Amino acid sequence: MSVTTKKSKEGREYLYFSYYDQHEKKKKEIYCGPKEDNDALQRATELKREYLLNQYKEIEKQLKVLDERDAPIKKKQSGETIRSIENQTSALELIKNASLYDPEIYFKSSENMSEVEKESVQLIVTSPPYNVGKEYVAYNDNKQLDEYLDFLDRVWRECKRILCKGGRIAINVADTWRQPYIPLHCYISVRMLKLGFKMRGVIYWNKGASAGISTAWGSWRSPSNPTIRDVGEYILIFSKDSFKLESENKIPTITSTEFTEYTKSVWTFPTTNGVKDGHPAPFPEELPRRLIKFYTYLGDTVLDPFLGSGTTCKVAKAWGRKSIGYEIDKSYKPEIQKKVGRASELAIPLDNFMINDKGATLDTLLAQIESHSM
Ligand SMILES: C[S@@+](CC[C@H](N)C(=O)[O-])C[C@H]1O[C@@H](n2cnc3c(N)ncnc32)[C@H](O)[C@@H]1O
Repeated sequence: MSVTTKKSKEGREYLYFSYYDQHEKKKKEIYCGPKEDNDALQRATELKREYLLNQYKEIEKQLKVLDERDAPIKKKQSGETIRSIENQTSALELIKNASLYDPEIYFKSSENMSEVEKESVQLIVTSPPYNVGKEYVAYNDNKQLDEYLDFLDRVWRECKRILCKGGRIAINVADTWRQPYIPLHCYISVRMLKLGFKMRGVIYWNKGASAGISTAWGSWRSPSNPTIRDVGEYILIFSKDSFKLESENKIPTITSTEFTEYTKSVWTFPTTNGVKDGHPAPFPEELPRRLIKFYTYLGDTVLDPFLGSGTTCKVAKAWGRKSIGYEIDKSYKPEIQKKVGRASELAIPLDNFMINDKGATLDTLLAQIESHSM
């Protein structure tokens, strides 16, 4: 199932929804309209949704037949007992009911997040101001180091209160200044350990060619005083109380390829352009997207205490997670609304759960569902 574009001889582009018809056993196409036409995109989206829902119904029907025949069926897979049909059916329910949750956004300091209940958040993804003198309207980004770390501690304490047992916090931070170099990621890590968080690891975000790497070489081609030039930033990962997150009847949305990639300690993807996002220091959507898929299940809650232009909430919404954001500067409100509003369709690759084009057997179907619900 896909939405494809075709070009006419005159060079105009048209959208088609193509799918495999299980009954007629052949590929079919439905014309949706000229590509630049909003209605065409809407039509293609509706057709996709309708197709997926029909597929779910088909899966449910098949599961029900099997369930009635010999429930609860258990299988042995690599020595482990896999879940019963009832669990798989409830997994399907969860996928089917995945929604676009509207984020809760508060324009105030996250030093006090009393609006958020204790132990109600599974993941915090954030990038605090780096204390490098950026021109924020409502925040002084040029504090003394201790004053800056004390300020962050007040926010981290609140984060600890609202995280559930096993909940994670991912802090994106860059080291700053040269001669002397200020290893902010070390200072913040030590403070987090003192606050009682358990450290899971550090990811180095390699920005590759997009790093806009500085040409402050220090002494060019001379050992006298050369400078090390950063090509990326850090993402510090901590857990509260336990390394393990509650997972009963929850659905992950990460693929095997992504999982293999995200368990590595270096992540490579480009940065984004702040001017475009109406904010001096946004992170790219890829950053929260990876963390959300890696560390949370569908329907979990993700919070960003330094929301900026709203990137974390936009991505959380698109991936079927609830989200909460705190931003001290109300002037970012239109930007946040615009960004979050752009997440108008779930990005979950629901196709992963589909009967394949050749008409999968019930066994392969169950294996498919199982591999996504473990
Ligand atoms: C590095 S930016 C975050 C950018 C964000 N990740 C994005 O993608 O747009 C840090 C943000 O924290 C905000 N901020 C600073 N102090 C704050 C506080 N006490 N409470 C909430 N937000 C604060 C700043 O106004 C700024 O927008």
